[in-house]
Amino acid sequence: MRLDKFLANSGVGTRSEVKRFIKDKRVKVNGEVVKSDSFNVDETKDVVLFDDLEVKYKEFYYVLLNKPKGYVSAAIDNVYPPVTDLIPEYAFAKLNPVGRLDVDTTGALLLTNDGDLSHKLISPKYHVDKVYEVEVDKKLDSKLVEAFKQGIELDGEPTFPAELIIINDKHAELTLHQGKFHQVKRMFKKFGYNVLSLNRKAFAFLTVNDLKLGEHRELTIEEEQRLKSL
Ligand code: URA
Repeated sequence: MRLDKFLANSGVGTRSEVKRFIKDKRVKVNGEVVKSDSFNVDETKDVVLFDDLEVKYKEFYYVLLNKPKGYVSAAIDNVYPPVTDLIPEYAFAKLNPVGRLDVDTTGALLLTNDGDLSHKLISPKYHVDKVYEVEVDKKLDSKLVEAFKQGIELDGEPTFPAELIIINDKHAELTLHQGKFHQVKRMFKKFGYNVLSLNRKAFAFLTVNDLKLGEHRELTIEEEQRLKSL
């Protein structure tokens, strides 16, 4: 791989910035200053230093965000800022959200540039658990528990069995194993409820308990492996 690409993909700078760093002799490969940006590096074994600090090459990034309200789970939108605005330091990696949370939904949102894993995680085949905290506009009826477990009709087909736990009059926890557009809101709407607030507590085994709204962190290697083996 070209040295400038290696450095840009590793987050050292934009393609033009890293070209300048190379010209300015700030980059070494295996102990030698390299002055050509087209120099070929083997990312599996060459040691690349920028200002004498080692640059570790990573192809894929996995970032867990505690999404606040007011951001869209997309790269571009005409009205709201995209969630990627909250993680500008990963702009070079072109991360995309895995699935969607509505603008007014908060909570666990994974972003990655690993397209294969992303497809797998949003595929209905893999039934990744998603746990939502829901607040509705009127007293919850216990008959919803059985109805959601049986599945209700959305888009002409029954939803997968879902687990509803009623916490109190207007608050519940709902675990879904699929991810249809506006699924939680539409499921409650079928029974005449409006969802007033929605927070995703967990996506698969990933929770955002350690993150404030708007904060993010990279997954650990163990979490990355666990996601891949789901
Ligand atoms: N279901 C919804 O209705 N909205 C979300 O953001 C996520 C699930």
